[in-house]
Amino acid sequence: MKFFIDTADVSEIKELSSSGLLDGVTTNPSLIKKSGRNINEVIAEICDIVPGPVSAEVAATNYEEMLKEAEVLKAIAKNVTIKVPLTWDGLKACRTLRNDDVLVNVTLCFSASQALLAAKAGATFISPFVGRLDDIGLNGMDLISDICEIYTNYPNLNTEILVASIRNTNHVIDAAKIGADVVTLPPNVLKQLISHPLTDNGLKAFLDDWKLTGQSIT
Ligand code: G3P
Repeated sequence: MKFFIDTADVSEIKELSSSGLLDGVTTNPSLIKKSGRNINEVIAEICDIVPGPVSAEVAATNYEEMLKEAEVLKAIAKNVTIKVPLTWDGLKACRTLRNDDVLVNVTLCFSASQALLAAKAGATFISPFVGRLDDIGLNGMDLISDICEIYTNYPNLNTEILVASIRNTNHVIDAAKIGADVVTLPPNVLKQLISHPLTDNGLKAFLDDWKLTGQSIT
């Protein structure tokens, strides 16, 4: 399973990428706003830090404008992945960009039928938003299972399932159990993945005992 990080905060990305665990980054207009940075500058910096796919989202809603924006964004770095919304224009732009071998992430997916369309459009990634489905009383993970089942039925569909809108570590584990290809993690959820009180307590006990031996390894 690939781990992407869902943020446009460069210092956070630097810190977390030093773990060697990051395979890519996703951003969206809200995360760019939160960063307070210019999109072109911040995406360029992120692409320098993380060699994997870095999603930058178009802001246009019509096909022609999306392609114009994609031209600018993809010129930033080789690993820029163009993020388009799950609309007819977005799917059309996806097909055109994929024909040119540009990586495309189709975002704002809330149904299996939408995911099927994105795969037909040749999307590199489909981003189903699990947290936002949970927020309205539905089960986001059911959507991940459905998409997995559908894509598995048609091995010629090469779209990777990128689980987005993750709120907690259970989302990550559930997505891994289902077999999703990628999770994009808010930094706090990535940090929580390692936490276990028995690890902390166990390490403390080992270190206390080690001190009592009076030994040194080096
Ligand atoms: O990047 C898209 C997605 O991860 C957004 O998540 O928390 O705004 O629903 P959220």
